[in-house]
Amino acid sequence: MNVTVREERPEDNIHVFVINNEAFGGAEEADLVERLRKSTSSAPGLSLVAEAKGKVIGHILFSKCQIIAEDESWEALVLAPVAVTPILHGRGIGGKLIQEGLKKAKALGYGAVIVLGEADYYPRFGFEKASKWEVKCPFEVPDECFMAQELKPGYLEGKAGTVRYPIEFQI
Ligand SMILES: CC(C)(COP(=O)(O)OP(=O)(O)OC[C@H]1O[C@@H](n2cnc3c(N)ncnc32)[C@H](O)[C@@H]1OP(=O)(O)O)[C@@H](O)C(=O)NCCC(=O)NCCS
Repeated sequence: MNVTVREERPEDNIHVFVINNEAFGGAEEADLVERLRKSTSSAPGLSLVAEAKGKVIGHILFSKCQIIAEDESWEALVLAPVAVTPILHGRGIGGKLIQEGLKKAKALGYGAVIVLGEADYYPRFGFEKASKWEVKCPFEVPDECFMAQELKPGYLEGKAGTVRYPIEFQI
């Protein structure tokens, strides 16, 4: 299957909603995407879709978050959600979205990406436990599931703190 990854366009919004709804088995993430699109935390150019034969079959979103320390804060990106049409799982589409998204985020000059997810999945894309840099999740999660990746070498060095998700995550 020839899959291309490109920026989401307004006419894709409905397809993106359906994919998130189907992939997650409910509207929670689909609604989150809708809220983030309108938010000042959205990261322009970092809502991407996977397309095959003119059909949208996957989506990934990155938005801006902060790493908060006592007297300082730093910008980073949070990767969430990523979703692929269920019947097409396991064909590398999710992987392609993640890789292309990371490449684009790097090209746009972001320093690091945070993800909360499967510890078996994200390390293959370069994510490591965020605790390596003492970057913490604002709520209790298994250490191995809260991950980060530097897009600029050394960006997370000395940036120990707690991630503040965009308010639209309603955390
Ligand atoms: C996660 C998701 C986007 C991956 O897309 P995909 O196109 O199936 O992924 P790929 O084909 O690139 O990779 C498949 C590999 O990822 C693994 N994988 C995918 N989702 C996984 C998950 N939630 N937990 C553990 N492993 C997972 C598969 O087991 C497979 O592993 P293998 O390569 O060792 O066989 C897709 O499964 C999906 O839409 N899931 C529902 C939504 C979701 O959970 N999103 C992630 C949280 S934000």
